Amino acid sequence: MATRRGKLDGRVAIVTGSASGIGRATALALAAEGAAVLVADVDEAGAIAVAGEIARRGGRASAQRADVADERSVAAMVAAAVERYGGLDILHNNAAAVDPALMSRDGEVAAMEVEVWERTFAVNLRGPMLGCKHAIPRLLERGGGAIVNTSSAAGWAGDLTRSAYGASKAALEALTRYVATQYGKRGVRCNAIAPGVIATPALAANVPPEQIALYERTVLTPRLGLPENIAAAVVFLVSDDGAFVTGQTLRVDGGLLVHHPATSF
Ligand SMILES: NC(=O)c1ccc[n+]([C@@H]2O[C@H](COP(=O)([O-])OP(=O)(O)OC[C@H]3O[C@@H](n4cnc5c(N)ncnc54)[C@H](O)[C@@H]3O)[C@@H](O)[C@H]2O)c1
Repeated sequence: MATRRGKLDGRVAIVTGSASGIGRATALALAAEGAAVLVADVDEAGAIAVAGEIARRGGRASAQRADVADERSVAAMVAAAVERYGGLDILHNNAAAVDPALMSRDGEVAAMEVEVWERTFAVNLRGPMLGCKHAIPRLLERGGGAIVNTSSAAGWAGDLTRSAYGASKAALEALTRYVATQYGKRGVRCNAIAPGVIATPALAANVPPEQIALYERTVLTPRLGLPENIAAAVVFLVSDDGAFVTGQTLRVDGGLLVHHPATSF
């Protein structure tokens, strides 16, 4: 029997925040399509576990401790992918500051602690910018590549809380368009995905069950999203299937934001 050809055979990918949730699912999905994956996360033990999971499924992966807010750490992450796998084709800027200790302090604007605002932006916006800064020269060396940034529905719709988080994600979508504009002619595509409500450890840690139940009623699909739903969209955008898609934000949110909320009850 002929071996199945993956959509990403021979490509090299970095996924930040891939010890858990959406990043973990994306790392698994990219590897299943044949990419060699650098599983990058501040949680080194978690990253090692995910890389091991990929290896057990027959894929190529290794772990790298990386803090996306720290430029030296991001530079080392990109260098590690190039050293281990010979180059870089794909970057998924997925890590965000979703630690409940920080997020629980990210509330209304009139009560905003500057420290919370700064830390949120350092991880959610500076992090992806640093990822792009260090990855783009490597992508260009291979004649191009693809970047996907994980935004959020929170970047589109106002909320009573999480002001810094929402603003950082809206800015990340603007950064996406700038990167797409500046490097498109040289073969680099850059898109964002705005997930809606996805069942991950971060969701359970930050959103009370009664609010999750409300979201469940508000989406147009029978149930909330899974990390694998986002991973599938990343595979589309970074593979040749997405060759003519750049500068976009793909909302993968079960229709959360396309209708008047009252209509789904
Ligand atoms: N779960 C949702 O409903 C949802 C909705 C919209 C957007 N998102 C976005 O999806 C992405 C992933 O979230 P998730 O729900 O999978 O969360 P998660 O908590 O399951 O995973 C987040 C991972 O990021 C890592 N991380 C945190 N700070 C980091 C840093 N400075 N450097 C490197 N890694 C770091 C964590 O260690 C963790 O492994 C985030 O960008 C989040 O904003 C999630």
